[in-house]
Amino acid sequence: MSIIKEQAIIVSQEQISDGIFDMRILFQKGAAQARPGQFSALYCRDASRLLPRPISICEADPEEGTLRLVYRVAGEGTKEFSGLAAGDAIEVMGPLGNGFSPVPGEAGAILVGGGIGIPPMLELAKRLPGEKSVVLGYKDTLFLKEDFEQVKDLAGVYVATEDGSAGVKGTVIDAIKEYGIEGNVIYACGPMPMLKALAAYADEHGLAAQISLEERMACGIGACLGCICKTKQKNTHTNVHNSRICKDGPVFDAKEVDFS
Ligand code: FES
Repeated sequence: MSIIKEQAIIVSQEQISDGIFDMRILFQKGAAQARPGQFSALYCRDASRLLPRPISICEADPEEGTLRLVYRVAGEGTKEFSGLAAGDAIEVMGPLGNGFSPVPGEAGAILVGGGIGIPPMLELAKRLPGEKSVVLGYKDTLFLKEDFEQVKDLAGVYVATEDGSAGVKGTVIDAIKEYGIEGNVIYACGPMPMLKALAAYADEHGLAAQISLEERMACGIGACLGCICKTKQKNTHTNVHNSRICKDGPVFDAKEVDFS
């Protein structure tokens, strides 16, 4: 599969929560290739911001030729994107990264998203066969929960919030324990402390775990080494205990990541 870079057209954009925006773009070749857990890189119009901003793919519709990108405004680049409207053009590169590797015929998957790591779990929930439960961790305000509830064949959508305003008060692990959620594989995306805790939980319970790391990126295509994470095995490209999140990831086997 090749990386595509072209001018996409914004189909719609709306704010769905505090600082969280939901953008759909017409990007036909990208939508045809995209797999759950991959991301796209969006370029700013402002030439002073050369590097693209990585944004995970929330949904890909190959028939409509659209990608849905749900992102948080975190700086000047994403602020610029949030001001765009239907009909505007935006330069996009993607799909990038490896994406999740759904385990064939797997039953009992637990999909976990935390904060802005929630969006990429939606396409995985839709495409992953077999029994699956979804656990969503928020600071306070919920978003995308109703989208998950519409996915067919889900055992349930469970919530944890830091302030206890919805679901379990605490972390996604607290929700897994509180609701007695079981499975034999975890797929997760979210902040590093959450992924570290899930990796330990998976290890302790003998579960497989694929985790998608959120990191700052620069080139997005494996060329600058601006996004490395520590790994237990030597990387075949760099020959050191580092991997490039944008190219070798963002999804890793939890056992491979060195959280120390
Ligand atoms: Fe450049 Fe990953 S962002 S190598």
